[in-house]
Amino acid sequence: MNERSNTPVTVLGLGAMGRAIADAIHRGGHATTVWNRTAGRADALVAKGATLAPSPTSAVEVSPVIVVCLLDDESVRATLTPLAPLLTGRLVINVTTVTPKQARDTAAWAAEHGVEYLDGAIMAVPEMIGLPVASLLYSGSRAAFETHRELLELLGGARWFGTDPGIASLYDLALLGSMYSMFAGFAHGAAMMASEGVPATEFVEMAAPWISAMTIGLPHHAEFFDQGDYTTDVQSLDFNKAAVDTIAEASRDQGVGTDVIAAVQTLIDRQVAAGHGKDSFARVFEGIRRPAPTA
Ligand SMILES: NC(=O)c1ccc[n+]([C@@H]2O[C@H](COP(=O)([O-])OP(=O)(O)OC[C@H]3O[C@@H](n4cnc5c(N)ncnc54)[C@H](OP(=O)(O)O)[C@@H]3O)[C@@H](O)[C@H]2O)c1
Repeated sequence: MNERSNTPVTVLGLGAMGRAIADAIHRGGHATTVWNRTAGRADALVAKGATLAPSPTSAVEVSPVIVVCLLDDESVRATLTPLAPLLTGRLVINVTTVTPKQARDTAAWAAEHGVEYLDGAIMAVPEMIGLPVASLLYSGSRAAFETHRELLELLGGARWFGTDPGIASLYDLALLGSMYSMFAGFAHGAAMMASEGVPATEFVEMAAPWISAMTIGLPHHAEFFDQGDYTTDVQSLDFNKAAVDTIAEASRDQGVGTDVIAAVQTLIDRQVAAGHGKDSFARVFEGIRRPAPTA
């Protein structure tokens, strides 16, 4: 079942992302009410026809759908808690970046107060909002996702991952975690080259296609992870240990920090020490999934 396309929507939070979201919703034909803690951020939206509410209370009471895009979980709780009685019977779509536990806790709080709750995670920067390249992940109320799908698709691609309100944010943070490690790896490579005066802008011409080409191996790693059988006759952990130790030694020789590559060494060494040197490099997954107890 689809919502009526003119469902009034309130957006709480007009940071860079909140403004982009409010703008896309308003352009999509919804009566859009906005509120922000600090005044002045709504000027451009108001000029286009959005309504600025002077308080969170007046913002919330005019719309059945409330989109929350604040800094973090703490600001979400600080803003929503006093609004609980008013939110009863409305839908809260929280696209603030939070942990899965925080999403579940907010969903439980919402359920206690008769508030329908959909948790969202934004895989996009503000400039991408409203374009097909933006991807937003949702979990929580399926009915809310299906009913308001048209509204959600004004922001970008919309996919629902299940009724567990924490799962969208788990995907978000797992994807971001993969990305940060990749960027840190690139920074390490760039630092190695910088030690001989090669600018990163030159190195990237080699690194970007190389990293991109290597992603072809990810599904193969994924199969190892899922099966838990790391038997291989190519590129064993012993083989990779030699390569990674050489990278670390070269880094030290060049006067470059080993922080990033040392983390990979630790993961490999743990598996080799446990007698798995003949297994695939993919086995490092086991050391991450079940970390060694700390002393
Ligand atoms: N920007 C991105 O590229 C991007 C991408 C994906 C996800 N996100 C997520 O989207 C959310 C918003 O990001 P953003 O880029 O819009 O951040 P931002 O520009 O820093 O804006 C933060 C917003 O939170 C409000 N805020 C902070 N503390 C508050 C409090 N205690 N009470 C009430 N309001 C409070 C700020 O209000 P004031 O104006 O009064 O300070 C502002 O509206 C974050 O969770 C972020 O992780 C952002």
